[in-house]
Amino acid sequence: MTRLLHADDPADIEAVAAVLRDGGIAALPTETVYGLAGNALDADVVGAIYAAKGRPSDNPLIVHVASVDDLPRVVRSVPDQARALAAAFWPGPLTIVLPRRDVIPDRVTAGRDSVAVRVPAHEAFRAVLRAAGVPLAAPSANRAGSPSPTTAQHVLHDLDGRIPAVLDGGPCEVGVESTVVDLTRTPPRLLRPGGVSLEQLRAVLGDVQVDPAVVGEMAADQAPGAPGMKYRHYAPAAPVVVVDGDAAQAAAYVRAQGLDHAAVLCFDEEASAFAGTGEVVTYGSADDPEALARGIFDALRTLDRPGVESIFARCPTRDDGLYRAVRNRLLKAAAFRVVSAS
Ligand code: TXA
Ligand code: MG
Repeated sequence: MTRLLHADDPADIEAVAAVLRDGGIAALPTETVYGLAGNALDADVVGAIYAAKGRPSDNPLIVHVASVDDLPRVVRSVPDQARALAAAFWPGPLTIVLPRRDVIPDRVTAGRDSVAVRVPAHEAFRAVLRAAGVPLAAPSANRAGSPSPTTAQHVLHDLDGRIPAVLDGGPCEVGVESTVVDLTRTPPRLLRPGGVSLEQLRAVLGDVQVDPAVVGEMAADQAPGAPGMKYRHYAPAAPVVVVDGDAAQAAAYVRAQGLDHAAVLCFDEEASAFAGTGEVVTYGSADDPEALARGIFDALRTLDRPGVESIFARCPTRDDGLYRAVRNRLLKAAAFRVVSAS
């Protein structure tokens, strides 16, 4: 049994911190998605995180610290670019890859010489960090391959009975994971789009390259900058196809497939156009990227059930700001399969 604890109860914050101090693991809310946290300095604890998630051991974890002042505890050097990013975006949904210090076990970094670090903004996570007194490794608190969890109920769906506790802090504010930027390369490289946009990064760093894994499927002989980007991800059991074109064209395309047990994932304002094509799930307005980010993983989870055999999805056409992260998650769920209905 997994204990369900509450972020607004100081006794529960302390109970979770005690679990972590004792070498246990627990799911915690962050502003992006829920994380499965444990002492980042203890290789056995980190092993327990991988085991609970069923995560491949070649996919490194993000280390969470309370402030930029804690960076020298986990990285060998803090370049000016890291200080500038921290001043602009921390605490917040940005992860920075830097040269790791030896105190960080190989298991955290999957043997790499770099470590990914972030200072989260969620007050409950910050309170637990302070009370635990150690850096916390925390991947998203889902079973490997599933959409990231944005509520405590999502965490329980995936991990009930596999972890001692989940701290319920309500739905996550951002809804997609942090942006990952690699500062060990020149120019810096965007490894995963997320809550901080590419435009915001460029405003601070100047030139930033986009890793090819962000925009397309990798060939067998290519390696993405972030190992996690190579896995089929975020995907419901049924195959997902993105359908381009306007809503009427896309609905006609879906009808023409003549499939039973099909479902549609679309923007709020398109629901009526798709009526009668199958189960329709909406994830926000096409004009509201914040809403789409908050809604995408819950919608993908809703569609992940027996009886749904194929999924046709509507993807934002814009890729500025938070749209880039939403597009990336949806295209990954679709394994980059896109058909044109226009
Ligand atoms: O918003 C988030 O980042 C959430 C919350 C819990 O903080 N965490 C999260 O962790 O999304 P995870 O493990 O699901 O994704 C971490 C990503 C993976 O794609 C991983 O490959 C990449 O970061 N990563 C971690 N360490 C890295 C490193 N040293 N070099 C390159 N990529 C790294
Ligand atoms: Mg994840």
